[in-house]
Amino acid sequence: MAITPHGGKLVQLEKTGADREAALKEAAELPYLTISAWTVSDLELIGIGGFSPLEGFMKQEDYEAVIAASRLADGTVWSVPITLSATKEEIQHTALGSKVSLKGEDGVIYGTLQVEEIYTYDKEKEAERIYGTKEEAHPGVAKLYARGEFYLGGKIELLNRPDHSEFDAYHLDPKETRALFEELGWKTIVGFQTRNPVHRAHEYIQKCALEAVDGLLLNPLVGETKSDDVSAAIRMESYEVILDKYYPKDRTRLVIYPAAMRYAGPKEAILHAIVRKNYGCTHFIVGRDHAGVGDYYGTYEAQDFITQFEAELGIQIFKFEHAFFCEACENMASAKTCPHDKQYHVHLSGTKVREMLRNGEKPPKQFSRPEVADVLIKGLKQTTTT
Ligand code: ADX
Repeated sequence: MAITPHGGKLVQLEKTGADREAALKEAAELPYLTISAWTVSDLELIGIGGFSPLEGFMKQEDYEAVIAASRLADGTVWSVPITLSATKEEIQHTALGSKVSLKGEDGVIYGTLQVEEIYTYDKEKEAERIYGTKEEAHPGVAKLYARGEFYLGGKIELLNRPDHSEFDAYHLDPKETRALFEELGWKTIVGFQTRNPVHRAHEYIQKCALEAVDGLLLNPLVGETKSDDVSAAIRMESYEVILDKYYPKDRTRLVIYPAAMRYAGPKEAILHAIVRKNYGCTHFIVGRDHAGVGDYYGTYEAQDFITQFEAELGIQIFKFEHAFFCEACENMASAKTCPHDKQYHVHLSGTKVREMLRNGEKPPKQFSRPEVADVLIKGLKQTTTT
């Protein structure tokens, strides 16, 4: 029996075929709101059921409950607001109870919203509660402060998807990954979230987890990330080379997670786990500083936070300590398994690694597989010359 989606059923709000044609025709005549790439990603995830049980952008009661207690108004665990913002000017012709179309900045109509509520919110309170800081230096907080002063809540329809054609081979919806796991006969599946190229510590914790379950869903986030993160295309290439050479083909699948990155640390760890449950995973990995940025969160804060909700979430969390290569063990290890002094541990900061790669230098193979380093060096060269 496959794991039950969060809240009980997999939401499906995408129109297809003739229904979609008719809905698009209608949407073209409606007043419209322009939404950011981030909100387009949220719309897509609601539509395909990744954000089940949400059926739309949050109304005030759900929003306030999420801010106050990491729950929806009905008590279901939910840790991050999924909201659609607009300025006063943008909504001056938007009537409550009406339907609006949602256009991306590229002019494409991605969907519609039934405007059930329009409400104001406190940005600093949301920043503090969700990101744990009011500082604009935090990339998620900066996005929040740039949003319009109103939220519009109500049910959505998904009519178009953002273009993921470059990742076509790896593009499956939650409904499809669930069918795939069934077909493969996997009963237990561990999901892995990442926004970075795969390094040895990632590989180590994935494989430790894979020892205990039937299959691994490597599920890299390919939506918007902060500008100094490695691009999704380069990261995907790094996963391809490593999967090809070092992973069992019958026990691993690579599928994109088309979301934007919030960098909300502990709160985002819960969102990430819920989404992977909707994709059909029974287990989810939370390692060191999950979904963190800078020094905003403690190394194990996400693990401690998710522990409070674990029983209710229904997906089991594999928690891993900070992993590293130990020269004395001659192996990957963590403080839990290695008795040796720090001097034996290979630690490199992300900044140091990026600097080495930019100079065409490969980081030590204890840190990064040489095949991955080659892809990153080539990719970084291309991005600096274009
Ligand atoms: S994240 O923002 O998507 O969490 P990243 O891609 O770096 O960032 O991490 C993916 C997953 O691997 C997260 O669960 C993170 O906690 C874990 N992780 C990353 N590096 C390590 C490490 N050295 N030791 C243990 N876990 C790690």
